[in-house]
Amino acid sequence: MPAFSTALIAWQKQHGRHDLPWQNTSDAYRIWVSEIMLQQTQVAAVKSYYLKFMQRFPQVQSLADAPLEEVLALWSGLGYYSRARNLHRAAKIVVQQYGGKFPEDPLLIEQLPGIGRSTAAAIAVFAYGVKAAILDGNVKRVLSRTHAIEGYPASPATQKQLWTLAESLLPPQEIQAYTQGLMDLGATICVRLNPKCLLCPLHSHCQAYKQGRVSHFPTPKPRRALPVRYATVWILRAEQGVWLESRPPTGIWGGLLSLPQTEGHWQAGQALPEFPSLPGQVVDPQLLPSFTHTFTHFKLQIQPVLTSLQQPFTVKAAEALGRFILPEEIATAPLPAPVKKVLLALLVTDCL
Ligand code: ADE
Ligand code: SF4
Repeated sequence: MPAFSTALIAWQKQHGRHDLPWQNTSDAYRIWVSEIMLQQTQVAAVKSYYLKFMQRFPQVQSLADAPLEEVLALWSGLGYYSRARNLHRAAKIVVQQYGGKFPEDPLLIEQLPGIGRSTAAAIAVFAYGVKAAILDGNVKRVLSRTHAIEGYPASPATQKQLWTLAESLLPPQEIQAYTQGLMDLGATICVRLNPKCLLCPLHSHCQAYKQGRVSHFPTPKPRRALPVRYATVWILRAEQGVWLESRPPTGIWGGLLSLPQTEGHWQAGQALPEFPSLPGQVVDPQLLPSFTHTFTHFKLQIQPVLTSLQQPFTVKAAEALGRFILPEEIATAPLPAPVKKVLLALLVTDCL
């Protein structure tokens, strides 16, 4: 038997859960209902619903005979109501096609509405002791850590790798303690955040733990690449300081002071834009290194251009749209972080 499985089984017997309402029975119907409720709902929330459901529908026949409305009423509050509709449909199939006895073969169980490969395996294991592998969210997390499986677990390639691994680890006996052990370990020890590795029976078999990379697994969902936008920010220098505009109250950097901004990246030789907030002649444009700032939904690649304002000019008409700030005010002014960074860098190199 793989050392992994031996350690897990011994741990389950001593530290696992033994008195959940759906344990200590081999009634496939009772096990099936619990596994469906537990698909998207935590154990603590399932318990009372499960007991009420079992009281009202003690056998698959009573569930099959009930009106759907009554099934849904007992499900009310658990959420994901397609689970209840599928349960009701499947109960009718079990009664009609299987004479009320749940099939033993996981491949047949999986044909019933609302039952996927992992749920089918769990039912076959707990009801009939069939040697079959489960792979729910908790188990994916445990196995991706113990065997340092890289790749987002829902991706087809990783999913296939995890199923192969799950099957290869199955013990020749004590499949029920093993399966319950995987579930319990995932729920109580190998939890998503801050797993309790020091208490874990698998830590001497765990690659992620040995490599000090527990938080690296499972690999998070790949983020779609953010769209990139381009902007030029203008550093307009005058004796009075650097000209800053008030950003409109909504939109990015709403309500802050910021450098005048134009769309796209300005290039040397192109005409200089006009700045409605500050009518005046701008001279000596100098390109500074561009950089990227990441927002939630896009990246902004920012091209700063250092320029001077030619004297004389009048700002009176434009006062509401912006103001000059002095170099010593930069550190405390309400500026977006990337803009502040550019200005502070210019300040220390004596460019302002
Ligand atoms: N989650 C899914 N199936 C479970 C079970 N049988 N016991 C505890 N948690 C579970
Ligand atoms: Fe999970 Fe830590 Fe145990 Fe590895 S050692 S299986 S990461 S709890």
